[in-house]
Amino acid sequence: MTISRSSLLWTLATASALVATSTGFAIPRSAYQAHQVRDASELLPTYDYVFVGGGTAALTVADRLTEDPDTTVLVLEAGPFADPATTLPVNAGGTQRQPFWNFSSVPQARLGGQSFPVLLGRMVGGGSGGNGMAALRGSAEDYDRWGRLFETNELGWDWEGLLPYFKKATNFVPPPADVAERFNITYDTSYWGTDASIYTSWPPFQYPGLDPLVTAFGEMPGVEYAADSGAGRAGVYWFPTLMDPVKHERSFALNGHYENVRRPNYHLMADTLVRRVLLDDDASAAKGVEFITKNQTFTVDATKEVIVSAGAVHTPKVLQLSGIGPRKVLEAAGIKTLVDLPGVGQNFMEHVGIATNITIEGLRNIHPNGFDLVTNATFREWVESAWETDRSGPYSIAFNNIAGWLPLSAITPSLFESFAQELEAQDHASYLPEGTDPTVAAGYRMQMQQLAVAMRSRDTVFARFAVNATLGGTNPIMNQPLSRGTINIDARDPFGAPPLVDYRTLSNPLERRVLVEMVKWLRRYSFETSLGGLRPLDSAPGPDVVSDDQIAAWLDASSVLPSDYHPAGTAAMMPLALGGVVDQTLRVYGVRRLRVVDASIMPNLPGANTCQPVYAIAEKAADMIKSNV
Ligand SMILES: Cc1cc2nc3c(=O)[nH]c(=O)nc-3n(C[C@H](O)[C@H](O)[C@H](O)COP(=O)(O)OP(=O)(O)OC[C@H]3O[C@@H](n4cnc5c(N)ncnc54)[C@H](O)[C@@H]3O)c2cc1C
Ligand SMILES: *[C@@H]1O[C@H](CO)[C@@H](O)[C@H](O)[C@H]1NC(C)=O
Ligand SMILES: *[C@@H]1O[C@H](CO)[C@@H](O)[C@H](O)[C@H]1NC(C)=O
Ligand SMILES: *[C@@H]1O[C@H](CO)[C@@H](O)[C@H](O)[C@H]1NC(C)=O
Ligand SMILES: *[C@@H]1O[C@H](CO)[C@@H](O)[C@H](O)[C@H]1NC(C)=O
Ligand SMILES: *[C@@H]1O[C@H](CO)[C@@H](O)[C@H](O)[C@H]1NC(C)=O
Ligand SMILES: *[C@@H]1O[C@H](CO)[C@@H](O)[C@H](O)[C@H]1NC(C)=O
Repeated sequence: MTISRSSLLWTLATASALVATSTGFAIPRSAYQAHQVRDASELLPTYDYVFVGGGTAALTVADRLTEDPDTTVLVLEAGPFADPATTLPVNAGGTQRQPFWNFSSVPQARLGGQSFPVLLGRMVGGGSGGNGMAALRGSAEDYDRWGRLFETNELGWDWEGLLPYFKKATNFVPPPADVAERFNITYDTSYWGTDASIYTSWPPFQYPGLDPLVTAFGEMPGVEYAADSGAGRAGVYWFPTLMDPVKHERSFALNGHYENVRRPNYHLMADTLVRRVLLDDDASAAKGVEFITKNQTFTVDATKEVIVSAGAVHTPKVLQLSGIGPRKVLEAAGIKTLVDLPGVGQNFMEHVGIATNITIEGLRNIHPNGFDLVTNATFREWVESAWETDRSGPYSIAFNNIAGWLPLSAITPSLFESFAQELEAQDHASYLPEGTDPTVAAGYRMQMQQLAVAMRSRDTVFARFAVNATLGGTNPIMNQPLSRGTINIDARDPFGAPPLVDYRTLSNPLERRVLVEMVKWLRRYSFETSLGGLRPLDSAPGPDVVSDDQIAAWLDASSVLPSDYHPAGTAAMMPLALGGVVDQTLRVYGVRRLRVVDASIMPNLPGANTCQPVYAIAEKAADMIKSNV
């Protein structure tokens, strides 16, 4: 009998869904799930730890805490369990059908008064269940800046201190040898671990159109290739996908930190919205939370800690509704101020996108390509059968696996130094909303001074230029925003309405100038390298938009995307005097037994998509909590 590669893979896949017991019998994985609480009557009288939100960070920490069988944990998640079929890579029909929070931002004054959708995962697993599955971590300097915000960095909030947690957070599976050789995918396993149940792996297929796109990066001045995405450098590099290495399904907090652990001490309740954290009588410590499920309100006590992990958009809402936040905001909404903490909901950051449309038309002649999927029935049949038989072929590609992650000195070799000087000399506070608390303004000034240094570095990523083998360049993303927004409760309906998400994109005018240079870089890459021989076509900004002023006007009118789905910073880990919300142990200033663990604690954004950084933060937080730090 011959065993085909595909049936062997399926046997492996099935085996991995079964768990061997000590007696040698295999039991279906479902029998090993943590305890799903379906009704409030099933709750224990108290828990050691109660989590607000059951997303990326929460499930990671809950998994680690319940490794100790004597620790009881309750996770309360607003969203449902997602239909597993929606968690496939997008090309295979996944995403966009998962449950999302999806509401409108505050109209953006500098972007023609438009509102933009705020899109966030709303399910068990949070953003990790609905994201593009790209696994990045950014540069070492991003984290070294975090470490320098405090007088001492004794808890290791820098690259050196976080690297062990990046290694702990995901399980790296190398790319298939044939694909790695064909496409020159390099990697360095010394930056990765192999113990986690969250996988970073590789699609077994790439389109050949990548060849000229990757070659052209190397023709641009100051652009270097880096050997591994985890090395903490800037440059052009390959990066893996957050997916199971065999089944090529999404690997995320639900299947990596909940479904795979059977622990009676790990309770989770879906479709349950936390209204607020409850403090004890003198408001000095958190004692539990108030939540709504099936239209009824309940409370539950946490004997050790409440951990807020509602994501960078909803964590400030929950804190403010709990009476923890800027007094002015709370008073306007009729919420009694229990802890006046000016930084809650401030320091809001996002990665900024540009809606360019510069295609490399000659890529249409390099086959196969994405168009062949539509026009060539033979190719499409192969693609479908490859996916059906062993989950290979183009459908296994989730987002993409290579991009240029470039420092400002490569984006604008002639201007980066003057931009750095301008940033240093700015009156930073004048770019924040009127009436901003002086501590918050001081934190912003400190961050902008750090970023001026980063502007001169070869290793802080200022922009992502991802490439698509079928079309060429994709929307460039600015990775070090210079503007800061706000997320506050809506005074008209503080509990019921979504929070007021104000990106304030372009409020620091230097941000626009960096975006202009990014557009010019993409044009030089498309027209002045060997790609120039492959019929580049500039449909947006378009050939009539030439001067810096014209590009700036084009950006302002309709072409800035204020979000790349990476909200962060709204409960920042910074000193109180710099507008911080949590200290280096991630405890909220002024309240005992209350921590925040999610993307809100990032003082500033890494030059990377944020999922892998959130996993690393969560692993580090779990270690601190377990060792009573
Ligand atoms: C569309 C999209 C694409 C993305 N693409 C990528 C990518 O390709 N790569 C990458 O690295 N990152 C990507 N990201 C970002 C990444 O997924 C997030 O940064 C990360 O998941 C955030 O984790 P978190 O723990 O901070 O918050 P989340 O994972 O968002 O968890 C917060 C949870 O809290 C719940 N919640 C909120 N309020 C309440 C409440 N009051 N009561 C109870 N529960 C509540 C929410 O429903 C949610 O499940 C993407 C995000 C999105 C939305
Ligand atoms: C979000 O809402 C907008 C506006 O209602 C809609 O156009 C869009 O399709 C929604 N997106 C998702 C992913 O649900
Ligand atoms: C890989 O290297 C070969 C040989 O140098 C080159 O022809 C090809 O364009 C490269 N492809 C990619 C995707 O880097
Ligand atoms: C929840 O309660 C509100 C008002 O109390 C009512 O209008 C609504 O129908 C209820 N919903 C469910 C699902 O019971
Ligand atoms: C269609 O795809 C098949 C399989 O990839 C290929 O052999 C064939 O040349 C393609 N046909 C055309 C017209 O491009
Ligand atoms: C590239 O763009 C095409 C056309 O929009 C799309 O179908 C495809 O999924 C994208 N990704 C890759 C990896 O080609
Ligand atoms: C990009 O430009 C091409 C060619 O002009 C056009 O067909 C396509 O619709 C444009 N894409 C977007 C996303 O606007």
